[in-house]
Amino acid sequence: MLPEVLTSIPGPESLRLAARLKEVECRNTTYLSPDWPVFWERAEGVNVWDADGNRLLDFTSAFGVATLGHGFSAKAAAEQAGQLVHAMGDVHPARLKVELCERLSAITFERWTGEKGKTLLGNSGFEAVEAALKTAVMVTGRSGILSFEGAYHGLGYGALLGAGIEWFRAPFEKQLSQVTTRLPFPQQDIDEEIWRNFRRALDKVNPKDIGAVLVEPMQGRGGIVIPPPDLLRELRSWCDEHAVVLIFDEIYTGLNRTGKLFGCDWSPAVPDLICLGKSLSGGFPISACVGKASIMDAWPETHGEALHTSTFLGNPLGCAMAIASLETHADPATTCLAWDRGNDMGAAFRELCDEPFVAEWRGVGFMQALELRHPDGRHAGDVCIELVKGLLKDGILVLPDAPEGHVLALTPPLGISDEEIAFVVERIRVRLRELGGISS
Ligand SMILES: Cc1ncc(COP(=O)(O)O)c(C=O)c1O
Repeated sequence: MLPEVLTSIPGPESLRLAARLKEVECRNTTYLSPDWPVFWERAEGVNVWDADGNRLLDFTSAFGVATLGHGFSAKAAAEQAGQLVHAMGDVHPARLKVELCERLSAITFERWTGEKGKTLLGNSGFEAVEAALKTAVMVTGRSGILSFEGAYHGLGYGALLGAGIEWFRAPFEKQLSQVTTRLPFPQQDIDEEIWRNFRRALDKVNPKDIGAVLVEPMQGRGGIVIPPPDLLRELRSWCDEHAVVLIFDEIYTGLNRTGKLFGCDWSPAVPDLICLGKSLSGGFPISACVGKASIMDAWPETHGEALHTSTFLGNPLGCAMAIASLETHADPATTCLAWDRGNDMGAAFRELCDEPFVAEWRGVGFMQALELRHPDGRHAGDVCIELVKGLLKDGILVLPDAPEGHVLALTPPLGISDEEIAFVVERIRVRLRELGGISS
């Protein structure tokens, strides 16, 4: 269903809510520019309705959460809500926690290697990353981390150690241990020389203190950057050679976002630990660090006091939603759909490559982007934000990505139709021409 062009976005109720929120929410969280805030009231499938009754087409999947569509696991949540909404995760857990961990094992390490996977559940995505970093210390006794420029692993203090976007780290740098070595994240289709330089830089890293390599198989927040297929394999052999734990942060790329079940399924490399979140439940804050059993068993047995847990660990609502969502994610038909529809979507968006400011289309599956540059080659973050605001008025939700905000991310739910894609392509074309001063 196509949105109507919305002339009054943000609507009066959203503006009233913005004014109220400004009084009571800490600055630097919600973006409250007068031409921006849209407060959500309801969502279903690929559509969101705001507090003024406007319908918007969601090309963000709400930060990559609603891969299967908004409300996909709502029924599971409602049924569970009538029964048990909280348990004592590490003391007297909900029975559903068992089933969720079994399913996570089945779709990861059992599928890749036959070996069981063991899980540490968390709430937000960054907690899964922190659980993985702690696991690496348990395994190796070494605190050093190798991560990548442009990387985004969430904003908790542990996860910030891996952050490759300096802006997020800078104000807190003084409280962060200096344990991280960062390498450039190579991009697919780069020339041989850049790839050779990357290999040389990796060879030069002193592995002595490094216990973990933390990497997104494809960078999301960093600007939808797809690396050469060999990157993960190179990292796998480097980790094997130096007995370092390899962590794939698949919080964004995992669960059919990239046209494969996991982003790492594009490569033969298998991680030691994988982090999942976002689309795991399709809407409840639950995350997971899943590791090879032989790696996870570096954690000692608990005798009643867990070394790593939290009040809401294995929350039954989250477990019920994750089980419902994994049931569909694990179905090969879902991966086929993500692959086929992703290709169709890519073909449609590639048509925009000749439009003003479009330097490049890139992507895999349902993780696609247009990189915008000025004619002199500068990153066009200024254009991208105007484009995003213009598209909002067209009833389309999109977001800029990359440290300089010059990448328009295109990450809708899998249920998006051809007609809806064509509509978005057309509106982007019109808006880019307006911004470039060309009459359509
Ligand atoms: C790759 C990746 N890792 C970790 C996170 C952090 O997840 P959360 O915001 O749920 O803590 C994100 C969030 O965007 C992400 O994209």
